[in-house]
Amino acid sequence: MGKPLGVGVVGVGNISGQYFENIPKLTNLKLIGVADLDVERAKKVAAAQGVQAFTVQEIYTAPNVDVILNLTLPQSHAEVTLKALQNGKHVYLEKPFALTMEEARPVIEYAASNNLRIGCAPDTFLGTGIQTSKYLLDNGAIGGAFAASAAWSAPGHERWHPSPQFYYLNGAGPLFDMGPYYLTALVTLLGPVVNVIGNTTRSNRERKIHTGDLAGTRIAVEVDTHISAILTHASGAQSTIMVSFEIWGSKLPTIEIYGTKGTISVPDPNRFSDPAFLFTEEEPEWKEVKPLAGYVDAGRGFGLSDMATAMEENRQHRASGELGLHVLEIMEAILKSGNGSARELIKSKVQPSSLVLLAQPTIAD
Ligand SMILES: NC(=O)c1ccc[n+]([C@@H]2O[C@H](COP(=O)([O-])OP(=O)(O)OC[C@H]3O[C@@H](n4cnc5c(N)ncnc54)[C@H](O)[C@@H]3O)[C@@H](O)[C@H]2O)c1
Repeated sequence: MGKPLGVGVVGVGNISGQYFENIPKLTNLKLIGVADLDVERAKKVAAAQGVQAFTVQEIYTAPNVDVILNLTLPQSHAEVTLKALQNGKHVYLEKPFALTMEEARPVIEYAASNNLRIGCAPDTFLGTGIQTSKYLLDNGAIGGAFAASAAWSAPGHERWHPSPQFYYLNGAGPLFDMGPYYLTALVTLLGPVVNVIGNTTRSNRERKIHTGDLAGTRIAVEVDTHISAILTHASGAQSTIMVSFEIWGSKLPTIEIYGTKGTISVPDPNRFSDPAFLFTEEEPEWKEVKPLAGYVDAGRGFGLSDMATAMEENRQHRASGELGLHVLEIMEAILKSGNGSARELIKSKVQPSSLVLLAQPTIAD
């Protein structure tokens, strides 16, 4: 292995802790420093991690930083990513890729024409849960896959997040926030999407922050909070998806893939390692499947580490910007279709990523 990729984190809020937990385990990554608009927060996190606190101006040009890990809010994703690329840095960013395709296109084009990499969360699909499901599909365990269903719901993130306002602004809502996990999993399992039909709505519930210093503050709701859609994959398979911030309780399964000879119950795509279950014509009862593929005990940061390995091996990385862009186009099209237009065509293309072999050495020590 060559020199580890130097990582500079921009945006050290809620999710950054999960990356800080995993980066030390990923031997091809080295945390160099952090920056945040909230300078005091950056200093505190830098001290806790034993790295340098940069200003947001400094970090983009810091000499030891090879890749900017963009953990800012969706509203800043495109701007921060482009700024990093323009300073010659590779980027790995949290989902969603951007707020709109219009904002996203110049970013992906700049990276491509300057030979820079962009990786995009989620990387949960690299864990054993979804990779084992992919292994089952690729090996014909359920015959020909022709349909899927996916569902995620919660009453709303304001019940646990101390600054949840962004979840109700354009660029978030249940589709842009949770949709990327489900859509990335569906594209990984059933291939790229060619068209969508969407429908969206919201209740008149008043939203308030429940925890932290801002508890009791009202939240302005800019987006629809209950979204349904039907996707057609290039393979001809059809997926039905529902994501919602409106539901107090639900027993709907997360993802199921339906084949001509059976069904795969795919584990929660917001997690890495939960088991898949299989039900077939030959063995018509649910059976847990032991891990057959995927990075073992993975967590947030494995997608960036996979990108570092791919750079060394001169191959495409799996949690790619192209995949993030494709998912963004699907989400944008669902909302457009939900606002009254008919079926929306998807123009972006993405190559299905290769299976993460269980036998392949995991990135982590
Ligand atoms: N919280 C979660 O559980 C979770 C899970 C998965 C993914 N994510 C994603 O991670 C991202 C961050 O979410 P979070 O919950 O950590 O948010 P957060 O509000 O807790 O933290 C965001 C941080 O980014 C900083 N920031 C914003 N714009 C900036 C800019 N232009 N330059 C520098 N710093 C900037 C803010 O000051 C803040 O410290 C979002 O895209 C979200 O969708 C969050």
